[in-house]
Amino acid sequence: MRDPRDDWRRFDAAAIPSKDSTPLLDAFLREVTIAASDRPLALLDVGCGSGRLSRRLFEQGFSVFGVDINPDAIYAAQHHAASADAAGRRLLFEVADFADNTSPQLHGGPFDVVVCQLVISIIGMIRQRENLLRHVHGVLRPGGHLFLSASGVSDTINAGYARLYADDLPLTGERHTYLSRNDRGEVLYVTHHFTVDELTSLLEAAGFDEISVVTEKEASSRRPDEAAYFLYATCRSKL
Ligand SMILES: C[S@@+](CC[C@H](N)C(=O)[O-])C[C@H]1O[C@@H](n2cnc3c(N)ncnc32)[C@H](O)[C@@H]1O
Repeated sequence: MRDPRDDWRRFDAAAIPSKDSTPLLDAFLREVTIAASDRPLALLDVGCGSGRLSRRLFEQGFSVFGVDINPDAIYAAQHHAASADAAGRRLLFEVADFADNTSPQLHGGPFDVVVCQLVISIIGMIRQRENLLRHVHGVLRPGGHLFLSASGVSDTINAGYARLYADDLPLTGERHTYLSRNDRGEVLYVTHHFTVDELTSLLEAAGFDEISVVTEKEASSRRPDEAAYFLYATCRSKL
């Protein structure tokens, strides 16, 4: 099977899929901010793309470090990077691979909060998804918070996904995994859709506690006129 990291290293940075409306993330961030002391929280945005969400989080008062495997996306994000402000907050970006077997060497951390939006679904290999969560756990302070969103198994509400899961199973060898393609039918990257139990087990195995997973029915990221489930997980690294 193709290594999804190669697809993402060379993906057109301007076309990286994202999400504008993030009510559950916003509610989570309000909660962790209220619970925190008066110092600015250090937040890591894993798979930050060109840094749109990172910039928003910086504007909301976090000290933000964004990492992504795509050098062009990080180059674009760095144009907006901000050196320390009066409160010592920073907005920094760095290329890093969070799916590798070895831990990423970051020039920052540990972090109070990690946000990982729509990344684990496009990490196409099981071992690499485990690596991602292990590395996220490794950069969090004990008791630190993770917000992670993922695509959910959607065959019961979207016949197109049911077909894709079935058609691509011989190619991917994994249930609920398919190849995302462009309009010309060329493969862009591998996508995996999670069940709640599957995502919960992965988070538990990586050492997370206080796990909660909420399922929302929304518009599909790449097909806005179609329905899809999204999973929103929050949890903490063990104290
Ligand atoms: C679907 S996009 C989501 C981007 C961003 N989180 C957002 O919601 O706007 C997935 C991002 O994960 C990045 N990515 C893929 N594999 C990665 C890896 N192994 N390590 C770090 N980032 C990765 C991609 O380059 C891409 O920017």
